[in-house]
Amino acid sequence: MNTIVKDVDPLCVDKDIIREAASIILSGGLVAFPTETVYGLGASCDIESAVRDIYAVKCRPTDNPLILHIADASDFFKLTVNTAGYVPLLIEAFCPGPLTLVAKSARKYACGSAGLDTIAIRMPNHPVALELIKQAGAMFAPSANISGGISPTTAAHVLNDLKDRVHCVLNGGACAVGIESTVADVTGDVPRILRPGAVTANDIASVVGACDAFVEPIANNNPFSGGIKYTRYAPKANMRVVTGHPLAAAQAIIRLAHGKNAGVLATAQTMNLYPNSMIVINLGDRDRPEKISANLYKSLRELDAKVDYIFAEGIDEASGGAVMDRLLKAARGSAMPAEEF
Ligand code: TXA
Ligand code: MG
Repeated sequence: MNTIVKDVDPLCVDKDIIREAASIILSGGLVAFPTETVYGLGASCDIESAVRDIYAVKCRPTDNPLILHIADASDFFKLTVNTAGYVPLLIEAFCPGPLTLVAKSARKYACGSAGLDTIAIRMPNHPVALELIKQAGAMFAPSANISGGISPTTAAHVLNDLKDRVHCVLNGGACAVGIESTVADVTGDVPRILRPGAVTANDIASVVGACDAFVEPIANNNPFSGGIKYTRYAPKANMRVVTGHPLAAAQAIIRLAHGKNAGVLATAQTMNLYPNSMIVINLGDRDRPEKISANLYKSLRELDAKVDYIFAEGIDEASGGAVMDRLLKAARGSAMPAEEF
Protein backbone atom coordinates (compact mmCIF):
# COMPACT_ATOMS: atom_id res chain seq x y z
CA MET A 1 0.00 0.00 0.00
CA ASN A 2 1.16 3.51 -0.83
CA THR A 3 0.77 5.90 2.12
CA ILE A 4 -0.77 9.24 1.09
CA VAL A 5 0.66 12.17 3.06
CA LYS A 6 -1.42 15.37 3.24
CA ASP A 7 -0.26 18.60 4.86
CA VAL A 8 -3.01 20.34 6.85
CA ASP A 9 -2.61 23.73 8.49
CA PRO A 10 -4.10 23.42 12.01
CA LEU A 11 -4.86 27.16 12.00
CA CYS A 12 -6.93 26.90 8.82
CA VAL A 13 -8.08 23.33 8.35
CA ASP A 14 -8.83 22.42 4.73
CA LYS A 15 -12.12 20.52 5.04
CA ASP A 16 -11.72 18.94 1.59
CA ILE A 17 -8.51 17.23 2.65
CA ILE A 18 -10.21 16.00 5.83
CA ARG A 19 -13.14 14.75 3.70
CA GLU A 20 -10.72 12.56 1.75
CA ALA A 21 -9.25 11.21 4.99
CA ALA A 22 -12.71 10.66 6.49
CA SER A 23 -13.78 8.68 3.41
CA ILE A 24 -10.74 6.42 3.92
CA ILE A 25 -11.83 5.85 7.54
CA LEU A 26 -15.45 5.21 6.52
CA SER A 27 -14.37 2.64 3.94
CA GLY A 28 -12.39 0.71 6.57
CA GLY A 29 -8.93 2.26 6.16
CA LEU A 30 -6.43 3.66 8.67
CA VAL A 31 -5.49 7.35 8.93
CA ALA A 32 -2.74 8.76 11.16
CA PHE A 33 -3.58 12.23 12.44
CA PRO A 34 -2.14 14.87 14.78
CA THR A 35 -3.51 15.49 18.27
CA GLU A 36 -2.18 17.87 20.93
CA THR A 37 -0.46 14.93 22.71
CA VAL A 38 0.99 12.55 20.09
CA TYR A 39 -0.06 11.36 16.60
CA GLY A 40 -2.89 8.83 16.65
CA LEU A 41 -3.68 5.94 14.27
CA GLY A 42 -7.41 6.11 13.68
CA ALA A 43 -10.02 3.59 12.56
CA SER A 44 -13.80 3.72 12.73
CA CYS A 45 -14.97 2.13 15.97
CA ASP A 46 -17.83 0.55 13.99
CA ILE A 47 -15.66 -1.29 11.43
CA GLU A 48 -14.26 -4.37 13.14
CA SER A 49 -11.79 -5.25 10.36
CA ALA A 50 -10.29 -1.74 10.51
CA VAL A 51 -9.84 -1.91 14.29
CA ARG A 52 -8.19 -5.32 13.87
CA ASP A 53 -5.85 -3.74 11.31
CA ILE A 54 -4.74 -1.19 13.94
CA TYR A 55 -3.53 -4.05 16.14
CA ALA A 56 -1.87 -5.84 13.21
CA VAL A 57 -0.10 -2.76 11.84
CA LYS A 58 1.22 -1.73 15.27
CA CYS A 59 2.03 -5.32 16.35
CA ARG A 60 -0.03 -4.50 19.44
CA PRO A 61 -1.21 -7.27 21.77
CA THR A 62 -4.96 -7.60 21.35
CA ASP A 63 -5.62 -7.57 25.11
CA ASN A 64 -4.46 -3.92 25.30
CA PRO A 65 -7.59 -1.75 24.88
CA LEU A 66 -7.72 1.39 22.72
CA ILE A 67 -8.94 4.92 23.44
CA LEU A 68 -12.15 6.02 21.70
CA HIS A 69 -11.79 9.57 20.31
CA ILE A 70 -14.82 11.86 20.17
CA ALA A 71 -15.37 15.41 18.84
CA ASP A 72 -18.31 16.40 21.01
CA ALA A 73 -17.98 16.21 24.81
CA SER A 74 -21.67 15.35 25.24
CA ASP A 75 -21.04 12.06 23.38
CA PHE A 76 -19.22 10.86 26.50
CA PHE A 77 -22.58 10.48 28.25
CA LYS A 78 -24.09 8.57 25.30
CA LEU A 79 -21.20 6.12 25.26
CA THR A 80 -21.03 5.44 29.01
CA VAL A 81 -23.39 4.42 31.83
CA ASN A 82 -23.55 4.97 35.61
CA THR A 83 -21.15 7.91 35.40
CA ALA A 84 -20.00 9.30 38.74
CA GLY A 85 -21.45 12.67 39.77
CA TYR A 86 -18.12 14.47 39.40
CA VAL A 87 -17.60 13.45 35.75
CA PRO A 88 -19.45 16.45 34.20
CA LEU A 89 -17.12 18.76 36.16
CA LEU A 90 -14.07 16.99 34.70
CA ILE A 91 -15.48 17.18 31.20
CA GLU A 92 -16.29 20.86 31.62
CA ALA A 93 -12.76 21.59 32.88
CA PHE A 94 -10.56 19.37 30.68
CA CYS A 95 -12.41 18.39 27.47
CA PRO A 96 -11.16 18.94 24.88
CA GLY A 97 -7.69 18.23 26.24
CA PRO A 98 -5.03 15.70 27.20
CA LEU A 99 -7.25 13.71 29.58
CA THR A 100 -8.74 10.26 28.86
CA LEU A 101 -11.58 9.06 31.08
CA VAL A 102 -12.22 5.36 31.71
CA ALA A 103 -15.89 4.67 32.50
CA LYS A 104 -18.46 1.85 32.24
CA SER A 105 -19.29 1.36 28.58
CA ALA A 106 -22.85 1.73 27.29
CA ARG A 107 -22.16 -0.73 24.49
CA LYS A 108 -20.00 -3.62 23.41
CA TYR A 109 -17.32 -3.21 20.74
CA ALA A 110 -16.44 -6.18 18.52
CA CYS A 111 -12.79 -5.14 18.77
CA GLY A 112 -10.86 -2.33 20.45
CA SER A 113 -12.00 -2.53 24.06
CA ALA A 114 -10.28 -5.88 24.70
CA GLY A 115 -13.53 -7.36 25.98
CA LEU A 116 -13.63 -5.05 29.01
CA ASP A 117 -16.87 -3.55 30.29
CA THR A 118 -15.16 -0.15 30.55
CA ILE A 119 -14.24 2.22 27.74
CA ALA A 120 -11.47 4.86 27.60
CA ILE A 121 -12.70 8.07 25.94
CA ARG A 122 -10.90 11.26 24.98
CA MET A 123 -11.74 14.45 23.09
CA PRO A 124 -8.46 15.73 21.63
CA ASN A 125 -7.74 19.45 21.59
CA HIS A 126 -6.55 19.69 18.01
CA PRO A 127 -8.52 21.21 15.09
CA VAL A 128 -7.37 18.55 12.58
CA ALA A 129 -8.30 15.66 14.89
CA LEU A 130 -11.65 17.25 15.75
CA GLU A 131 -12.61 17.87 12.11
CA LEU A 132 -11.66 14.30 11.17
CA ILE A 133 -13.75 12.83 14.00
CA LYS A 134 -16.67 15.15 13.13
CA GLN A 135 -16.66 13.85 9.56
CA ALA A 136 -15.78 10.18 10.18
CA GLY A 137 -17.46 9.57 13.56
CA ALA A 138 -15.91 8.19 16.75
CA MET A 139 -12.55 6.52 16.15
CA PHE A 140 -10.39 4.13 18.08
CA ALA A 141 -6.86 5.56 17.97
CA PRO A 142 -3.71 4.43 19.73
CA SER A 143 -0.43 6.27 19.28
CA ALA A 144 0.75 5.84 15.66
CA ASN A 145 3.93 3.88 16.34
CA ILE A 146 5.06 0.26 16.49
CA SER A 147 3.90 -1.12 19.82
CA GLY A 148 6.47 -0.76 22.60
CA GLY A 149 8.42 1.98 20.79
CA ILE A 150 8.46 5.75 21.17
CA SER A 151 5.20 7.59 20.40
CA PRO A 152 5.33 9.90 17.36
CA THR A 153 5.10 13.67 17.78
CA THR A 154 5.56 14.53 14.07
CA ALA A 155 4.26 13.10 10.79
CA ALA A 156 7.88 12.15 9.94
CA HIS A 157 7.98 9.95 13.06
CA VAL A 158 4.77 8.22 11.93
CA LEU A 159 6.21 7.59 8.44
CA ASN A 160 9.42 6.31 9.96
CA ASP A 161 7.43 3.59 11.76
CA LEU A 162 4.38 2.95 9.57
CA LYS A 163 5.11 4.05 5.99
CA ASP A 164 3.21 1.89 3.48
CA ARG A 165 1.32 0.21 6.33
CA VAL A 166 -1.37 2.91 6.71
CA HIS A 167 -3.53 4.52 4.02
CA CYS A 168 -3.02 8.18 4.91
CA VAL A 169 -1.02 10.45 7.23
CA LEU A 170 -2.34 13.95 7.95
CA ASN A 171 0.66 16.18 8.64
CA GLY A 172 -0.38 18.95 11.03
CA GLY A 173 3.09 19.74 12.41
CA ALA A 174 4.59 18.91 15.80
CA CYS A 175 2.37 17.99 18.78
CA ALA A 176 2.38 20.71 21.46
CA VAL A 177 2.11 18.49 24.56
CA GLY A 178 4.41 15.77 23.29
CA ILE A 179 3.50 12.90 25.66
CA GLU A 180 0.38 10.75 25.79
CA SER A 181 -2.77 11.90 27.59
CA THR A 182 -3.39 11.37 31.28
CA VAL A 183 -5.63 8.31 31.73
CA ALA A 184 -8.01 8.53 34.71
CA ASP A 185 -10.36 5.83 35.95
CA VAL A 186 -13.67 7.53 36.78
CA THR A 187 -15.65 4.41 37.72
CA GLY A 188 -15.13 4.97 41.46
CA ASP A 189 -16.08 7.57 44.05
CA VAL A 190 -12.76 9.32 43.50
CA PRO A 191 -10.94 9.61 40.14
CA ARG A 192 -7.73 7.59 39.94
CA ILE A 193 -4.76 8.22 37.63
CA LEU A 194 -3.84 5.13 35.57
CA ARG A 195 -1.26 6.90 33.39
CA PRO A 196 0.26 10.28 34.31
CA GLY A 197 0.20 13.05 31.70
CA ALA A 198 -0.14 16.80 31.30
CA VAL A 199 -3.34 16.89 33.40
CA THR A 200 -2.14 16.03 36.91
CA ALA A 201 -3.85 14.50 39.95
CA ASN A 202 -3.64 17.95 41.55
CA ASP A 203 -5.34 19.54 38.53
CA ILE A 204 -8.18 17.01 38.82
CA ALA A 205 -8.43 17.35 42.60
CA SER A 206 -8.67 21.13 42.25
CA VAL A 207 -11.84 20.62 40.20
CA VAL A 208 -13.55 17.67 41.91
CA GLY A 209 -12.05 17.78 45.41
CA ALA A 210 -9.92 14.63 45.35
CA CYS A 211 -7.94 12.38 43.02
CA ASP A 212 -5.86 9.27 43.66
CA ALA A 213 -2.36 9.81 42.31
CA PHE A 214 -0.65 7.43 39.92
CA VAL A 215 0.89 4.37 41.54
CA GLU A 216 3.10 2.19 39.37
CA PRO A 217 1.23 -1.12 39.37
CA ILE A 218 3.08 -4.35 40.07
CA ALA A 219 3.98 -5.83 36.68
CA ASN A 220 1.45 -8.32 35.36
CA ASN A 221 -0.89 -7.65 38.24
CA ASN A 222 -3.33 -5.56 36.28
CA PRO A 223 -2.53 -5.48 32.59
CA PHE A 224 -4.97 -2.70 31.81
CA SER A 225 -3.70 0.04 34.09
CA GLY A 226 -2.09 2.29 31.54
CA GLY A 227 -0.59 -0.58 29.61
CA ILE A 228 2.06 -1.48 32.18
CA LYS A 229 2.09 -5.11 31.17
CA TYR A 230 4.02 -4.21 28.06
CA THR A 231 7.37 -2.53 27.50
CA ARG A 232 6.52 0.99 26.47
CA TYR A 233 8.14 4.08 25.06
CA ALA A 234 11.45 2.25 24.75
CA PRO A 235 14.30 3.17 22.38
CA LYS A 236 16.56 0.48 20.91
CA ALA A 237 19.60 1.98 22.64
CA ASN A 238 20.50 0.86 26.14
CA MET A 239 19.09 3.61 28.33
CA ARG A 240 19.66 4.60 31.96
CA VAL A 241 18.25 7.41 34.09
CA VAL A 242 20.56 9.00 36.67
CA THR A 243 18.63 10.54 39.53
CA GLY A 244 19.67 12.94 42.28
CA HIS A 245 20.86 16.53 42.18
CA PRO A 246 21.17 17.63 38.52
CA LEU A 247 24.84 18.65 38.90
CA ALA A 248 25.73 15.31 40.48
CA ALA A 249 23.71 13.50 37.81
CA ALA A 250 25.59 15.32 35.03
CA GLN A 251 28.96 14.45 36.58
CA ALA A 252 27.97 10.79 36.96
CA ILE A 253 26.74 10.68 33.34
CA ILE A 254 30.03 12.11 32.05
CA ARG A 255 31.86 9.27 33.80
CA LEU A 256 29.35 6.60 32.71
CA ALA A 257 29.40 7.71 29.06
CA HIS A 258 33.20 7.74 28.84
CA GLY A 259 34.45 5.52 26.03
CA LYS A 260 30.92 4.65 24.87
CA ASN A 261 28.94 5.66 21.78
CA ALA A 262 26.54 7.53 24.04
CA GLY A 263 24.08 10.42 23.99
CA VAL A 264 22.68 12.46 26.85
CA LEU A 265 19.28 13.98 27.64
CA ALA A 266 20.24 17.05 29.66
CA THR A 267 18.48 20.22 30.76
CA ALA A 268 19.10 23.95 30.43
CA GLN A 269 20.50 23.93 33.96
CA THR A 270 23.20 21.34 33.17
CA MET A 271 24.04 21.76 29.47
CA ASN A 272 27.26 23.67 30.13
CA LEU A 273 28.66 20.95 32.35
CA TYR A 274 29.12 18.51 29.48
CA PRO A 275 32.23 18.59 27.29
CA ASN A 276 31.70 19.67 23.66
CA SER A 277 32.86 16.27 22.46
CA MET A 278 29.73 14.60 23.88
CA ILE A 279 26.37 14.23 22.08
CA VAL A 280 24.03 16.13 24.39
CA ILE A 281 20.43 17.30 23.83
CA ASN A 282 18.95 20.08 25.92
CA LEU A 283 15.36 19.07 26.79
CA GLY A 284 14.70 22.53 28.21
CA ASP A 285 14.37 24.37 31.47
CA ARG A 286 13.64 22.19 34.51
CA ASP A 287 11.14 24.81 35.64
CA ARG A 288 9.12 24.40 32.41
CA PRO A 289 8.03 20.72 32.42
CA GLU A 290 5.65 21.40 29.52
CA LYS A 291 8.67 22.33 27.33
CA ILE A 292 10.53 19.23 28.44
CA SER A 293 7.60 16.96 27.57
CA ALA A 294 7.22 18.66 24.16
CA ASN A 295 10.89 17.86 23.37
CA LEU A 296 11.16 14.43 24.97
CA TYR A 297 10.15 11.95 22.27
CA LYS A 298 11.77 13.71 19.33
CA SER A 299 15.00 13.88 21.36
CA LEU A 300 14.80 10.19 22.27
CA ARG A 301 14.25 9.31 18.61
CA GLU A 302 17.15 11.54 17.52
CA LEU A 303 19.56 9.93 19.97
CA ASP A 304 18.29 6.43 19.25
CA ALA A 305 19.21 6.89 15.58
CA LYS A 306 22.81 7.84 16.51
CA VAL A 307 24.01 6.10 19.67
CA ASP A 308 24.09 2.76 21.49
CA TYR A 309 23.69 4.21 25.02
CA ILE A 310 21.37 6.95 26.24
CA PHE A 311 21.83 8.58 29.63
CA ALA A 312 19.11 10.87 30.99
CA GLU A 313 19.16 13.12 34.01
CA GLY A 314 16.20 12.41 36.29
CA ILE A 315 13.49 15.07 36.12
CA ASP A 316 11.83 15.74 39.46
CA GLU A 317 8.51 17.24 38.72
CA ALA A 318 6.31 18.88 41.25
CA SER A 319 3.68 18.65 38.52
CA GLY A 320 2.67 15.02 38.43
CA GLY A 321 5.76 13.12 37.32
CA ALA A 322 4.69 12.37 33.74
CA VAL A 323 8.12 13.10 32.21
CA MET A 324 9.94 10.99 34.81
CA ASP A 325 7.40 8.20 34.23
CA ARG A 326 8.21 8.19 30.49
CA LEU A 327 11.98 8.40 31.10
CA LEU A 328 11.84 5.41 33.45
CA LYS A 329 9.71 3.44 31.00
CA ALA A 330 12.10 4.31 28.14
CA ALA A 331 14.94 3.02 30.35
CA ARG A 332 12.90 -0.11 31.15
CA GLY A 333 13.11 0.89 34.80
CA SER A 334 16.90 1.26 34.83
CA ALA A 335 17.59 4.18 37.19
CA MET A 336 20.43 4.87 39.62
CA PRO A 337 21.11 7.69 42.05
CA ALA A 338 24.07 9.86 41.02
CA GLU A 339 25.59 9.38 44.46
CA GLU A 340 26.29 5.73 43.66
CA PHE A 341 28.93 6.57 41.05
O1 TXA B 1 -2.66 10.95 24.07
C1 TXA B 1 -3.14 9.85 23.87
O2 TXA B 1 -3.82 9.23 24.72
C2 TXA B 1 -2.87 9.19 22.50
C3 TXA B 1 -3.56 10.01 21.42
C4 TXA B 1 -3.44 9.39 20.05
O3 TXA B 1 -4.90 10.23 21.79
N1 TXA B 1 -3.30 7.83 22.49
C5 TXA B 1 -2.64 6.87 23.18
O4 TXA B 1 -3.19 5.61 23.00
O5 TXA B 1 -1.67 7.08 23.87
P1 TXA B 1 -2.46 4.28 23.44
O6 TXA B 1 -3.25 3.17 22.86
O7 TXA B 1 -1.03 4.35 23.02
O8 TXA B 1 -2.62 4.26 24.99
C6 TXA B 1 -3.90 4.03 25.56
C7 TXA B 1 -3.77 3.63 26.99
C8 TXA B 1 -3.17 2.26 27.12
O9 TXA B 1 -2.21 2.30 28.15
C9 TXA B 1 -4.36 1.40 27.49
O10 TXA B 1 -3.98 0.28 28.27
C10 TXA B 1 -5.21 2.38 28.28
O11 TXA B 1 -5.05 3.61 27.59
N2 TXA B 1 -6.64 1.99 28.25
C11 TXA B 1 -7.47 1.93 27.18
N3 TXA B 1 -8.69 1.48 27.54
C12 TXA B 1 -8.65 1.24 28.85
C13 TXA B 1 -9.59 0.75 29.82
N4 TXA B 1 -10.82 0.43 29.48
N5 TXA B 1 -9.17 0.65 31.10
C14 TXA B 1 -7.90 1.01 31.46
N6 TXA B 1 -6.97 1.46 30.61
C15 TXA B 1 -7.33 1.58 29.32
MG1 MG C 1 0.92 4.04 22.66
